[in-house]
Amino acid sequence: MTDMKYIAATIAVAVICGRVAGEDMMKNIFKEVPYTEGRMGSRQLVNEKPLLVMQIALKPGQQVPLHKANSNVHLLVLEGDVIVTLDGREFPAPRGTLLPVAFQTPMTIRNDTDSNASFIVLKTPNPSEMSSSGISVREDQTVAELVVEHPELKEKLEKMGIDYCCGGKRPLGEAVRAAGIEWPAFVSKLQAEAKSSAQKDWNKVPVTELADHILNRHHTFMKEQLPRMDSLLTKVRSAHGENHGPMIDDLRRVFDSLRAEIEMHLMKEEQILFPAIKAVDAYVSGTGGVPEIHCGSVANPIRQMEYEHDSAGEALSEMRRITGNYTLPEDACQTFAALYDGLQAIEADLHEHIHLENNILFPRSVRQEKEMQEG
Ligand SMILES: [Fe+2]
Ligand SMILES: [Fe+2]
Repeated sequence: MTDMKYIAATIAVAVICGRVAGEDMMKNIFKEVPYTEGRMGSRQLVNEKPLLVMQIALKPGQQVPLHKANSNVHLLVLEGDVIVTLDGREFPAPRGTLLPVAFQTPMTIRNDTDSNASFIVLKTPNPSEMSSSGISVREDQTVAELVVEHPELKEKLEKMGIDYCCGGKRPLGEAVRAAGIEWPAFVSKLQAEAKSSAQKDWNKVPVTELADHILNRHHTFMKEQLPRMDSLLTKVRSAHGENHGPMIDDLRRVFDSLRAEIEMHLMKEEQILFPAIKAVDAYVSGTGGVPEIHCGSVANPIRQMEYEHDSAGEALSEMRRITGNYTLPEDACQTFAALYDGLQAIEADLHEHIHLENNILFPRSVRQEKEMQEG
């Protein structure tokens, strides 16, 4: 697509918003692109109720952390090549790509190339209008306004290092950035916290559907991200070994053992436990015969998996401790930032993954098996 077409599209956006474009409203999206050292850069181009337009800038190695699309989204790549991951599937998106993303789709966008990449994000309607997300937050509302509306979020904000008492009058966007959190990651964490009526109630969907969701979303994500973190760790060690060698070596030690544990764990679930869980579900729902469970009962492997979840949780806490809550050193490069962003995305994803298994899938399967045995 030519530059003129991009500019025409920008003007069209202004017209959609009910205004006639004037000189004072014109922007050249190829000028002053908000590239930022360390983390992704962004700027708002249009903020109207029916439409939010952002421009995101990713230097080599940077990424937009894992989050769920908080409206109906279209991505338009302006320069460079990015990899967009939607619900665990990767889409290479070179310059000129227009990619639609459905509301609530888990997504990340990363720049694995050696050149800068920037893209436009169109959200319709503005996420502030999406009441079905259960919680709507805007960067320009104050921290206090959010807490008054959602007092149940106080503890969550505190954990994120966002002061809602003395710092309550601060705009939320500013407070979130000051706490070192990217806005999309913040919104995604809040949405996960809020008990949304629109959220899928995993207690009600068939057990097999939940098991498939865990496999497609969380297992795929882990298999894709663990090798990526491994290579980023190697790069960071070779570039920063002199100043941060012992810390990076500590991180490497814990990461290696976490990776080995998780890879083995996923294999056991995929080859033994999940087929057994699905067989019990098929029998109870009348679509399958009497299941043959090699390990005697689903309860046995479940106990082992829960034990391994605890161990993974400890490794995640240890990595957080080693990195000082993922605080980047002053001399950090983009790769260092990409490593910390990626490890935090792994942490968030693993927490959700373990929650779905420990608190929903496993107890439901144990109940089904009991039901089956009682006849
Ligand atoms: Fe799993
Ligand atoms: Fe698991």
